[in-house]
Amino acid sequence: MCGIAGYVGKKNAVEVVFDQLKRLEYRGYDSAGIAFPQNGGIGVLKRAGKLVNLESVLGQAPSDARYAIAHSRWATHGAPTDENAHPHFDEHEDVAVIHNGIIENYLELKEDLEKRGHVFRSQTDTEVAAHVIGHEYADGGPLEEAVRRAVKQFRGAYALVVISRREPGKIVAVRNASPLVIGLGKGENMLASDIPALLPYTREVLVMEENSIATLTDDTVAVTDGDGRELPFHPQHIDWDLASAERGGYEHFLLKEIHEQPHVIRQCQAGRFNEDGSVHLEGVFSEHVWMEIDRVNIIACGTAFHAGLMGKTLFEQMLRLPTDVYYSSEFRYGDPVLSPKSLAIFISQSGETADTLAALRLCKSKRIRTLGIVNVLGSSIARECDRTLYTQAGPEISVASTKAYTAQVIVLTLLAMYIAQIQEMPGVRLQDWAKALSNLSGLADEALKTECEVLEIAEKVQDMKLAFFLGRGADANLALEGALKLKEIAYVPTQESPAGEMKHGPLALVEPGVVAFFGATDPSVSDKIVSNIREVQARGGTVVAFTTEDETIVPRASDYVLRVPTSGEEFLSSLLTIIPMQLMAYHVARLRGCEIDQPRNLAKSVTVE
Ligand code: M6R
Repeated sequence: MCGIAGYVGKKNAVEVVFDQLKRLEYRGYDSAGIAFPQNGGIGVLKRAGKLVNLESVLGQAPSDARYAIAHSRWATHGAPTDENAHPHFDEHEDVAVIHNGIIENYLELKEDLEKRGHVFRSQTDTEVAAHVIGHEYADGGPLEEAVRRAVKQFRGAYALVVISRREPGKIVAVRNASPLVIGLGKGENMLASDIPALLPYTREVLVMEENSIATLTDDTVAVTDGDGRELPFHPQHIDWDLASAERGGYEHFLLKEIHEQPHVIRQCQAGRFNEDGSVHLEGVFSEHVWMEIDRVNIIACGTAFHAGLMGKTLFEQMLRLPTDVYYSSEFRYGDPVLSPKSLAIFISQSGETADTLAALRLCKSKRIRTLGIVNVLGSSIARECDRTLYTQAGPEISVASTKAYTAQVIVLTLLAMYIAQIQEMPGVRLQDWAKALSNLSGLADEALKTECEVLEIAEKVQDMKLAFFLGRGADANLALEGALKLKEIAYVPTQESPAGEMKHGPLALVEPGVVAFFGATDPSVSDKIVSNIREVQARGGTVVAFTTEDETIVPRASDYVLRVPTSGEEFLSSLLTIIPMQLMAYHVARLRGCEIDQPRNLAKSVTVE
């Protein structure tokens, strides 16, 4: 939800922040803008639409500006127009502000300011924030004190970044529930919503704490709390390979991230096995806690929710541990019944999803044990959970999540094995699971080799008017994720459900032009799947099956077949089908001419409700 960048140093600041913005465009692409010092005031360039529109006027910005701020917008308040694009000025153009989040009480604040004669040029809550800051600043500086006074009047979630014409060379940033990361350099400092934007410039980063205010100049960074008390800070060194945050020869980040999955499968297991083959999870709860847990609630959104469903299948089948999976937005307002001995698991790639974060805080207020499964280091969910397991998948840039899903399921698998080990669950063949996991990366490589066949099938079905995604057991979970991918990047309407549910209503939608994608990796229900396939075909639908190389009946019944290798564990064979499903979504989207890495109306990290 909105990308923020800021730089102060010796370089051409406009060039730097624009480059940073390009690395953040996945966070929002409705409009973009930039502010810089110019002729004793502040110059602003902004354009509706993608960054290329801003780039086309960037030549008007001075090349000698040594500080600048920039923003790419995912619209909440007000349409994606030039006027609503950030940065926004206050009444007297003393300050320019960029913002990620929502100021919930902006209408009250706006009315109050209008009564004092303020005139607004946009429909945004951000412009109201800028006016409040400007109003406080009129009463006296320094800028960080005016910002501190202003944010006391705001309700909502926000990361705000401000520059002033009266204090050149200074950037002030405040964080409240929307991410901001400071990059520390030599003779230069910078900030951004996300770490990948900083990597070409520095590896030393400081994740801003909730409710903290930072003041950056070229050679100082000061961080204070809401009352102005200086906070100690502990920068982290980021050793991600820069290439992992770049496209590396692929046409799209999405394709690159799909192809990274064999590596990711290895990475998220790295350091998590002892020499004797037992699972070792650093920093999780002590053994007696695992013995005591009587129920698991998994809470997440979107793709992470789908990974949670795989966790439920595993925890119930392997551990006989009752597990529920909730959408974060439902959980937080649903007054859930929570056992004091339960464990709440929060899954999030970004670690910043607003609903998941709120659900986490709700559990903490009820003293429920919390465990995060998170990708982004130092993110809010990672920091606020009692314990966190990182997925170690590296930066995921494309808005549609792929490698993070696979990594989340692998971490859930390791966790289930770890609990089984502690609880000495009878009948769980932990060594077989360990072997299957260690082979999985190689099998994922094989699964990627389906790409040519995927492309051929995608060419045949690209004009489908509706796609069914169906399966049984773990395959039903995969079907939900396969459908989400096709829907979000190729804009194909989808109908997803367990295969057995189809005849209870959705079958009414089947007619010529409908394609049914079946997950069929569980041989114990192959004959049931074949019956469902026949039901679709009898009504004119086309069937594509994602199955294993060992399956015999499903391929004979299907119009098209994509086979993944068979893992020693059925659950993992099922997981492998996500690879051809992701490739199918990618190739259909490409053939339909869609914006793959930046699907319409979506943003990577949903930090608003
Ligand atoms: O960062 P998170 O994992 O918390 O994000 C959750 C969802 O917003 C995310 O998975 C979303 O559904 C993706 N667009 C799916 O591809």
